[in-house]
Amino acid sequence: MSTDVLVLNGPNLGRLGRREPQIYGTLTHAGLRAHLTEAGRDLGLDVEVRQTDAEAEMISWLHEAADNRIPVVINPAAWSHYSIAIADAVAQLEAPVIEVHLSNIAQREEFRHHSVVSAYVTGTIIGLGASGYDYALAHLASLIDQEAEGPSDPPQIRPGSVHGAITGRRRGDPTTSSDSQD
Ligand code: DQA
Repeated sequence: MSTDVLVLNGPNLGRLGRREPQIYGTLTHAGLRAHLTEAGRDLGLDVEVRQTDAEAEMISWLHEAADNRIPVVINPAAWSHYSIAIADAVAQLEAPVIEVHLSNIAQREEFRHHSVVSAYVTGTIIGLGASGYDYALAHLASLIDQEAEGPSDPPQIRPGSVHGAITGRRRGDPTTSSDSQD
């Protein structure tokens, strides 16, 4: 099965669990990877989780996602706040891309309030801890479902479809009467 979704984590996120746990939680990056791989499987997604402290490596992964139209979940970490190079690479993505921040950056130091990446993403999830990644995957699974069903007008998330993904309906499973919208 090909990679359906890339989860790309930026600098210092490899130190999750040890790094300011009062802000970022106690889950390690290895734990996050294991969790998201499993959560992805439940959503019918093949999820690959990568982390780097090197900007050039992150940019090469974004180019790979752009060239192969791979949906992305990205936590650009500190790069969010100043890296035009990362923003330019994200801008090249054609498949959906969700920006995730573990902490509520709007409530923190002023230099964290603005993300130069946010203008180029499908949506942003902040302040929900590691669950933010789960919601991002559920949203992507739902978008992929809709794409498989054919063009919709307008192309947007339908109420309940992310809920269906979160509550465990696997991609491709028949809808039940309770989550059918028509
Ligand atoms: C972060 C927030 C950034 O401001 C910070 O530099 C990070 C992590 C978050 O997930 O909350 O490294 O992106």
